[in-house]
Amino acid sequence: MSALIDFMGDWISVGYLLSAVLFIMGLKKLGHPRTAPQGNQLGALGMLVAVVVTVASMQLEGNAQWTLIIAGMAIGSLIGYWMAVRVEMTGMPEMVALFNGFGGAASALVALSETMKYLEAGANIPTGLELTVTMVAAGLSALVGWMTLTGSLLAMYKLKGGVEIFGKWIKTPTWGPTWLNPVKILLLISVAVLIVKSISEPTNQDYLWAIIAISCLLGIILVLPIGGADMPVVVSLLNSLSGIAAAFTGFIFSNSVLIVAGSLVGASGIILTFIMCKAMNRRLIDVLFKSFGGSGEKVDLTRTKVGSDADEVAMMIDGAQKVIIIPGYGMAVSQCQHQVKEFADLISEKYDTEVKYAIHPVAGRMPGHMNVLLAEANVPYEQLIEMDEINQEFPDCDVAVVIGANDTTNPAARSGEGPLAGMPIIDVDAARTVVIIKRSLSVGYAGVDNDLFYMDKTMMLFGDGKKMMTALNNSIKEN
Ligand code: TAP
Repeated sequence: MSALIDFMGDWISVGYLLSAVLFIMGLKKLGHPRTAPQGNQLGALGMLVAVVVTVASMQLEGNAQWTLIIAGMAIGSLIGYWMAVRVEMTGMPEMVALFNGFGGAASALVALSETMKYLEAGANIPTGLELTVTMVAAGLSALVGWMTLTGSLLAMYKLKGGVEIFGKWIKTPTWGPTWLNPVKILLLISVAVLIVKSISEPTNQDYLWAIIAISCLLGIILVLPIGGADMPVVVSLLNSLSGIAAAFTGFIFSNSVLIVAGSLVGASGIILTFIMCKAMNRRLIDVLFKSFGGSGEKVDLTRTKVGSDADEVAMMIDGAQKVIIIPGYGMAVSQCQHQVKEFADLISEKYDTEVKYAIHPVAGRMPGHMNVLLAEANVPYEQLIEMDEINQEFPDCDVAVVIGANDTTNPAARSGEGPLAGMPIIDVDAARTVVIIKRSLSVGYAGVDNDLFYMDKTMMLFGDGKKMMTALNNSIKEN
């Protein structure tokens, strides 16, 4: 019997190794839009292998509670399927933030249940290094997991633009006076002290509950002051934290696949965080402690601009040799990516126009938002050009067509002041003519008025993205 258990134990290690390899291969493939769907499937397969192997090892150890396992998997799968089918493309960023929070909470709950068992073991508690590792891992898992949950829930509401029941508080993301910074550090130090205390008194559960309460508070006060252009950084940081929480939980019961998968999510999330910081021209420390992300409050707009119509824009585009399309969040809202592709096809066939797309790293509401939408409309990847590269081409561009983008084109970012200060933008204002399609002159996510709208070379085409793109395409066909 013991030989069988050893043999099965080896296979369980092989299964975990296989799932770790699948995760790594999946991550590699996620690096390019063309291979990303395959990467997603490999990651899902890795997770399936990890679940099957974990359940098999529980069965082997004689503690598989099949009713609970099957009920949990069925309910979880149903909720996941329902959410994935129901979610609108515009709701994806909030769903990602929510899943980050659930990931953190799941890890923290598993850690809590494991340490509860441990604490309730009374006199049988191990001592020495094993006790220290378990209590440190449990404390850190609680800190990161609960902080990720409350921080992500707040980030989700901020991405939704605030929720009425919480009123001005949550609608005003920059609430966070500078005196909160020492409080954050003090709270972190108290968690460290509580972890040390829990090692010397492992049966006292109060320490763990205190860590959980402080961590929930920390998540809120860390995210509360951040808003506007800095939200992308926070969402990717929370994503990273959800992975780190899982890795800490893995240490509590020596689960190698949890340590590997958690570390992969933690490491890739932190890389994405730094990519986002670079894109926003920010330092992570400034995002977390300086809170210059913008209020998100609507400013009073005093200037006006006469709008153009689709026929006028179509006539102006007739004969353009080079057109650059700049998509933004409004394209996601109006779901006009297919009409945008049709527009690009039309002008390149009819006028032999060269068409490219300028992709800002934080356009939309989640990393890669524009790439996903344009890929759905079968826009060739070669036409999607990153900001640094495309910016050199605007002086040669006849018409820049901005579709539902605002902050990512706002010259106010160059001023060094305000919520967008220092953020690199798409240099749309360097093009010969600019066409902007949006419903009004109103501000974007960071709440800053945009001088680009009022320039002489700018034509505003006011209306919903899909409606206006359809009208423009019809005018071009009739022209
Ligand atoms: P935004 O600055 O948010 O502007 C989007 C514009 O789309 C709005 O001004 C709105 O103007 C217009 N719009 C909305 N619905 C529309 C519709 N149906 N048809 C046409 N236009 C519509 O967009 P952006 O330039 O993509 O910048 C993204 C912003 O979000 C940045 O500040 C970024 O920091 C922030 N953010 C990004 C992320 C990530 S990871 N990408 C995450 C969180 C926050 P009207 O109301 O006048 O139509």
